[in-house]
Amino acid sequence: MKVTVVGAGAVGASCAEYIAMKNFCSEVVLVDIKEGFAEGKAMDLMQTASLNGFDTKIVGTTGDYSQTANSDIAVITSGIPRKPGMTREELIGINAGIVGEVTKNLIAHSPNVILIIVSNPMDTMAYLVHKTSGLPKNRVIGMGGALDSARFKYRLAQALDAPISDVDGMVIAAHSDTGMLPLVSKATRNGVPVSEFLSQDQVDFVVEETKVGGATLTKLLGTSAWYAPGAAVSVMVQAIACDQKKMIPCSLLLEGEYGQNDICLGVPAIIGKNGVEQIVDIPLSAAEQEKFSEAADAVRAVNSDLKF
Ligand code: LAC
Repeated sequence: MKVTVVGAGAVGASCAEYIAMKNFCSEVVLVDIKEGFAEGKAMDLMQTASLNGFDTKIVGTTGDYSQTANSDIAVITSGIPRKPGMTREELIGINAGIVGEVTKNLIAHSPNVILIIVSNPMDTMAYLVHKTSGLPKNRVIGMGGALDSARFKYRLAQALDAPISDVDGMVIAAHSDTGMLPLVSKATRNGVPVSEFLSQDQVDFVVEETKVGGATLTKLLGTSAWYAPGAAVSVMVQAIACDQKKMIPCSLLLEGEYGQNDICLGVPAIIGKNGVEQIVDIPLSAAEQEKFSEAADAVRAVNSDLKF
C-alpha cells in the first residue's frame, strides 16, 4: 500500500507520522514545493522508525510527482492555512489554484488513486476536485467530519467528566465555524443519550465549543492545528488501506442524500477499499435538517466563487 501526502507542513507531516506509526503501509511519499523540505521531514521521520518501531518507508520529494506513481491513496493538505481571525472560506482564491494543480499531477501518475482532501475551505475544495478531476465519486473524500467529531467527543468527555472511550458522537454538515452540525441527539455515553447527564446549557456549550474548535486552536497557536487533523486523516487512510468499512463522517458529493444535490457536505459514510462504500442517510430531526440545509446554502455560496 502506497500513500502520498502532498504538503509537508504541519498537517501533512503529522499525518505521515501517524500513518507510519500505525505500520499498515509499505510506503508514504511526502511532496512539497519548498526545496528540500519534504526530504528533510521524511528523513527526520525515518530516523524515528527504529525508535518507534515501524517499517513504513517514508520518502520526500520537492515536487517530483513521478515518485508518487501508483499511489493507492493520496492526501492533499497543500495550500495556505488559516491565520488567527481568518475563516476557512477566506482561503479559497489561493487554495483552489493549488488544489487543482496538485490533483492533476497526482492523477497523471496514479490513475487509480483515492483522494482525501484536507485543504480549506475543505467542502469547497472537495467539490472542486469532483468537478475537475473526472474521478468517480467514491474516490474523492473530504476530511472534516472525522476531525470535528473527535473535537466533539473531546468536549463531551470534558462536560461529562468521562473518559473519551465512553463517549460517542458525530458531527456532520459543513467543516466551517457556522456550518458544523454536532448531532447531540445521537451522542451517547456508553449507549445512553448525553442529555441524560448534561443540562441544556452544558449541551449548548459543548456544541458551540465544537463548532469553533479549529478557530480556538488557530488563536492559541497562531496557525491552524495539526495533531488532530493529521490523526483524523490517518484514520481515514487506514479505513481504506485495511478495508475496515468504518463509519466516518466525510465531505462527499451528494446526489439526493439529506435533500441535497451537486454539493460536498459532511455525512456519515462507510469507508473501505473502494473509498466511499456507501453514504449512510440517517433521518434528522426537523431542526437538524434545517441546520443542514442552512450549512448547504452557505457552502453553495462559497462554491459559486470557484472558476472551473
Ligand atoms: C482545522 C483545519 C484542519 O479545523 O480545518 O483545524
